[in-house]
Amino acid sequence: MISKPTDKNSGQPAVRRVAEGRERQAPAPEVKNSAFARDVLAGLSAPQKRLPSKYFYDKRGDAIFQSIMNMPEYYLTRSEYEILDMHKESLQQLFQNGSGRFNLIEFGAGDGFKTKILLKHFTRAGVDFKYLPIDISENVLQILTNDLKQSIPGLQVEGICNDYFTALSQLRQTADRRNVVLFLGSNIGNFSEKEAMDFLGQLAEGLNPHDLILVGFDLKKDPEQILAAYNDAAGITRAFNLNLLRRINEELGANFNLQQWKHYPLYEPDSGEARSYLMSCVQQEVHISSLEKTFSFRAWEPVHVEISRKYDLDTIRRYASKSGFEVKENFFDCRHYFTDSLWEKI
Ligand code: AVJ
Repeated sequence: MISKPTDKNSGQPAVRRVAEGRERQAPAPEVKNSAFARDVLAGLSAPQKRLPSKYFYDKRGDAIFQSIMNMPEYYLTRSEYEILDMHKESLQQLFQNGSGRFNLIEFGAGDGFKTKILLKHFTRAGVDFKYLPIDISENVLQILTNDLKQSIPGLQVEGICNDYFTALSQLRQTADRRNVVLFLGSNIGNFSEKEAMDFLGQLAEGLNPHDLILVGFDLKKDPEQILAAYNDAAGITRAFNLNLLRRINEELGANFNLQQWKHYPLYEPDSGEARSYLMSCVQQEVHISSLEKTFSFRAWEPVHVEISRKYDLDTIRRYASKSGFEVKENFFDCRHYFTDSLWEKI
């Protein structure tokens, strides 16, 4: 017999009992020990509080990011789309290096919106290549590979569900063809310089000499235009950043009051860092039940959430040579807002 579960003591539905129980009972160990819980604990315990931007991307965050890419102020996606579309033939020739075949490996492919330009062009031109999107989310990979099999018949695609470096080391062992790695979308801009060097250095170690990487960098430009991309009039970026607090509320049982937080982006033209903060508008305390901890925030205390760095060509060259690559060519959009920089492993 199927009966509606109820709390034996109160007669209330079980759902309510669970919600209340969260405040009193010890949290489940798998929640408390999750990477998310550990990173939130470390970030909010630091003297200058911070939360990592990688946690923006839950289901809701993914959807808000789709809206960001369509905002009039967010020029990055359109600029890079233009680059790939304008230069797809040159890229084909450089990737093939004569008529050779290659693996096209992508870190963080997402919905494949931009990469499809290359995949369609290469497939139409009869290029011998295999597309290997790497992602830690099985779900993202499934959706992408199913979509690609439908929309580009004949494409060889093999999703790799692993962290970036484990996946790369597997590829190297079976290298009978050149590897070409895509790291697009200015995702590198979320790294500090040290993190970028670690990432690129490890990437270089996982590749063979003459392998290629194509890295998307957003370029320095009018600071007001950069700032607007992270402070749009419709408040979409605000919702994107505040979603992180909502996520902590839902997944870690916290009681952030979103009304008392402000999205505050700024741009520093010398370092090229666009930084986003969540600011506590009042003195307040927030309890996170999974961590069994209460955090105090001063009025107007900033919590740093994201860096989106902007680059100049000298910095790009320096990054390449310091991590074991040589810049082969920089590809630009018409306005020179963005570059996809092609590097060869030395
Ligand atoms: C996806 C990391 C490139 O930094 O521009 C957009 C994320 N954050 N608006 C960026 C983002 C706020 C985006 N990246």
